[in-house]
Amino acid sequence: MADAVLAFETQEARASLKPTPRNETGPFYKRLAPNSAHLRGAGDPGLPLRVDGRVRNVRGEVMPAAKVEIWQADHLGSYDLEGFRYRASLSSDASGQYSFDSVMPGHYPGRVCQHIHYAVTAPGHKPLITQLYFATDPAFEGDPDRNYTRDPILISRELVRPVTLAGDPDAIHAHVDFDIVLEPL
Ligand SMILES: [Fe+2]
Repeated sequence: MADAVLAFETQEARASLKPTPRNETGPFYKRLAPNSAHLRGAGDPGLPLRVDGRVRNVRGEVMPAAKVEIWQADHLGSYDLEGFRYRASLSSDASGQYSFDSVMPGHYPGRVCQHIHYAVTAPGHKPLITQLYFATDPAFEGDPDRNYTRDPILISRELVRPVTLAGDPDAIHAHVDFDIVLEPL
């Protein structure tokens, strides 16, 4: 059994993964966000959202201690420019995993689609600036394959991820997986 697991991991480590597509930074990035995965405060309005994923490189190697910076609008589409609401600077764990709790970001003027901004850095790898989008976005009218280009900034269908609903009926939250693949320098 152990041999089988080892063989699988070795095979995975040799895998060639496609790097996560880049997407523009936008105007609202702020340095030095707190290292807290709890972006959603108690009683925050909006649909609760949990995002998690794993940071790897194109060789399939997991990236522990990658810096995963995220920033997003609140449920009404406003960015906190004074403080650090809905902003975080996270660190992937020993298996490359990261996760955070937030709310589904709102739409705002000038952008067609809901999104969460990412800046991911790890030693020996190219910094990745990108954005996560949601297949449930009303802008896609249920068909992201056909309609993702409605947002002129969204140039890659791969950045649009499925959204699942989880939890008790009175405490539903949305869940999205967003794995990250970095390129070496
Ligand atoms: Fe934005």
